[in-house]
Amino acid sequence: MSEAPATTADARAVAPALSEQIVTHYHEMHRRDLPPIVALAREVEAGGGPPGLADRVRALAADLEQHMRNEEMRLFPMMEQGGNTLIAQLIDDLQVEHKVHGDEVASLRATLDALPVPPTAAAALDRLRLAFGKFAADLTQHAQLEDEILFPPFVARREATPRRPGSP
Ligand SMILES: [Fe+2]
Ligand SMILES: [Fe+2]
Repeated sequence: MSEAPATTADARAVAPALSEQIVTHYHEMHRRDLPPIVALAREVEAGGGPPGLADRVRALAADLEQHMRNEEMRLFPMMEQGGNTLIAQLIDDLQVEHKVHGDEVASLRATLDALPVPPTAAAALDRLRLAFGKFAADLTQHAQLEDEILFPPFVARREATPRRPGSP
């Protein structure tokens, strides 16, 4: 008799198609959107904005690229094969990164919101705030889709450890 609920099995079965959609929609969108955002941050910094702003955005973009490559090269192929003993740890690590990226995005948004208008880059700051806000919303949706829909069926096994009689 199979112990896996049909819903979990079904969720694992759709993971390859869902992960493919995540790559073609969100991963490619971030890869398109981030280089112009880094360029705008550089423009704002050069026009009198805070030193180090562009480096912070570039570091976030580099971290996110490494995270997405890790999903594409390691996690999604594991899911396609139905999961293995390493997948729960990898998912834990990726979820920690979601939190780290989310915190850095929130911190950068707060920095941009509080920034005085730079002497010669007011228009660039407007465009940067707009573009970064869109990126932040996309990244939130992307991480939620992975954390709430794609990942859970692959960590269910760990939580399905048989309980002792009488335990809650
Ligand atoms: Fe992703
Ligand atoms: Fe992710």
